[in-house]
Amino acid sequence: MAVYEATASAPVNIACIKYWGKRDTKLILPTNSSLSVTLDQDHLRSTTTSRADPSFTEDRLWLNGKEEEIKEGGRTATCIAEMKRLRKQEVEDKQPNEPKVKNHPHHAPQILRSDHLGLQLSTHHVHIASFNNFPTAAGLASSASGFAALVSSLAQLYKLPVSPSTLSLIARQGSGSACRSLFGGFVAWEQGTLPDGSDSLAVEVAPQSHWPDMHALICVVSDDKKGTSSTSGMQRTVETSPLLQHRIKHVVPQRMADISAAIRARDFDKFAEITMRDSNQFHAVALDTEPPIFYMNDVSRAIIALIVEYNRVSVEKGLGRKAAYTYDAGPNAVIYTLKENVKEIVELILKYFPQREGAFKDVFGLLGGVDVAK
Ligand code: PMV
Repeated sequence: MAVYEATASAPVNIACIKYWGKRDTKLILPTNSSLSVTLDQDHLRSTTTSRADPSFTEDRLWLNGKEEEIKEGGRTATCIAEMKRLRKQEVEDKQPNEPKVKNHPHHAPQILRSDHLGLQLSTHHVHIASFNNFPTAAGLASSASGFAALVSSLAQLYKLPVSPSTLSLIARQGSGSACRSLFGGFVAWEQGTLPDGSDSLAVEVAPQSHWPDMHALICVVSDDKKGTSSTSGMQRTVETSPLLQHRIKHVVPQRMADISAAIRARDFDKFAEITMRDSNQFHAVALDTEPPIFYMNDVSRAIIALIVEYNRVSVEKGLGRKAAYTYDAGPNAVIYTLKENVKEIVELILKYFPQREGAFKDVFGLLGGVDVAK
């Protein structure tokens, strides 16, 4: 008997222009566009296997070996349902004139058999097992890689000839930022304007090969679970922050254009300036929320001071900025830099934040997958 099973993996992405705020919480439509860099496949990624079988009595999910409930109407259930719908649509599109095909002496049996099986496949329940190759407790967002891998594995299982942008529409409904992990390299999530969300998708700005020297260092400051989830934090910010409204209307559109141009021109100085400013504004918006949300801690802020000083010296020498910090909904730092500076920055960080003081749980080198002095 045929086994219907497929495996896919997807990496984590880290935003330079932050997504923060939903205009539709069910479809996960954002209040602004965002842009990120997808990290290297070798380091932080989720690998997911999906299997369809007529003997399965329900859809089930295991994360790192532990079964998780698939809540009815929840995000995982939505992604699975959407993928089944695409499969059904794909099979139906292939047999628009079924009676004619049936009467055709040569092709009928073949087409009928595959269509029959195909339709069944989308009605079978699925079992899904997903693993992260990084500690889930490390305080690093795994939902982006997780939902991107889930949707990709189902696309493979159902043999869907669809683009990453089409899949991003579905991954988005699992976790907003997941839509950007469908592409490698530099990726924009265009917010879109349509109420059904059909134009709120990820597009490639440039592949990783366009700027292979770009690296990311992840400094795990704390592996505590974050205090305010992105879902409830965003909702509170949308409801209470006047600064968010200013950001949406007057700041992000220009930044999206400017950082895309900087990436195309491989202008690291500009890329760094915009990335750091946008991280700062995201955390300012969190502070402008009522009651306020604090994601960074004293160590996060000390790393900012160190990078600011490092860049000041570099700019004074006429070399421009050499590093860009950015922080998501937690205290861990991601530092973008070019390959030639990775060693120097890792040494600098470890000098000021020696591990014995417990400032860092770990320092990973990412993008291109090299370079970390342990
Ligand atoms: O996709 P979510 O709900 O995990 O939200 C991610 C929000 C940030 O990481 C803070 C910003 C971003 O664009 O990834």
